[in-house]
Amino acid sequence: MSSASRCRPWNVHRLPSAEAKVFLVTGGNAGIGYFIAEQLASTGAVVVLGSRDAAKADAAMTSIRSRVPGAHVRHLQLDVADLSSQKTAVEGLGLDHLDAVVHNAGVALDNPPRRETKDGHELMFGTNHLGHFALTQWLAPLLLAAPAGRIVTVGSFAARSERLDLRDLQSTQDYRPKRTYGRSKLAQMCFGFELDRRLRAVGSTVRSVVAHPGGALDSLTPSRPPVCVTTPGERLRALPAGLLVQGKDAGAWPVVRAVLDPEVRGGQLYGPRFFGLRGTPRREPVPPHMADPAVAADLWSTSGELTDTDAHLGFR
Ligand SMILES: NC(=O)c1ccc[n+]([C@@H]2O[C@H](COP(=O)([O-])OP(=O)(O)OC[C@H]3O[C@@H](n4cnc5c(N)ncnc54)[C@H](OP(=O)(O)O)[C@@H]3O)[C@@H](O)[C@H]2O)c1
Repeated sequence: MSSASRCRPWNVHRLPSAEAKVFLVTGGNAGIGYFIAEQLASTGAVVVLGSRDAAKADAAMTSIRSRVPGAHVRHLQLDVADLSSQKTAVEGLGLDHLDAVVHNAGVALDNPPRRETKDGHELMFGTNHLGHFALTQWLAPLLLAAPAGRIVTVGSFAARSERLDLRDLQSTQDYRPKRTYGRSKLAQMCFGFELDRRLRAVGSTVRSVVAHPGGALDSLTPSRPPVCVTTPGERLRALPAGLLVQGKDAGAWPVVRAVLDPEVRGGQLYGPRFFGLRGTPRREPVPPHMADPAVAADLWSTSGELTDTDAHLGFR
């Protein structure tokens, strides 16, 4: 890359070409994940939508193809929360390398009761954190086979004010849905930064980056029927909120930058420019509680036990 192109500011509407690259987006069939996939597809890359619902994935691929002529999109049947299905799912990819995975799929519950995955883990912690923790292991060989693989973990603003309770990671003793969600996102972000430290320690070519979308509302999101439809009335009512937060198309921007920008390094955090809630993507300082190595080491070993994964997740 020339020094001139390095100096150019990142432009969310002029993404660099990523032809011949392959990206996997978990939960790429809806919400922010859909827009991550759409924007990545516009670079010429092959984009695989990791989705548990084939009909939703088909609708998303049809929508992307209608907006990005010649888009290379595929579906991978993937339930992130079903740990025993992940190995077979990844084998079904039929790829010899993977340039990046975006750990985007997520569950956010607003109300009790506490729910569990079929593996018996609290649903948000089990899907958002444990599911992606385990998935990383199965993808490791493919990421190592790429020249400079990336793992982009989608965190949340909600994690800023949370702290992990390492004795009650699954909220069995005290379940409050919003707090459990925020903690699951914090666990993901701690994982992303700890993974970076571990990758560096073994001199890996793979980078681990964390990005968050700020606040992203469906009502501020452009329609992509039948994937998402926003009525004029909904858009009108959401206008005041648009001063503070944004649509899911813009929520995708920091994540897409974390995947594509050649300047991005492992261990960095990307989010929206204005108060971390809206705007174009920029690098943010990493809050100390997200990068605490002692907390992360504890979380890592418990996550390994709960998911029965290799301690190095395949990166040695
Ligand atoms: N929206 C925000 O303001 C905001 C703020 C901070 C962080 N985030 C994060 O951004 C990410 C996307 O959020 P969003 O607002 O786009 O959510 P969303 O609209 O609810 O979409 C969630 C996506 O995750 C998928 N998913 C859920 N469980 C899954 C599983 N077990 N296996 C495979 N896919 C699964 C969903 O698939 P189905 O269609 O099959 O359910 C859907 O595609 C999440 O990680 C979220 O925590 C969002």
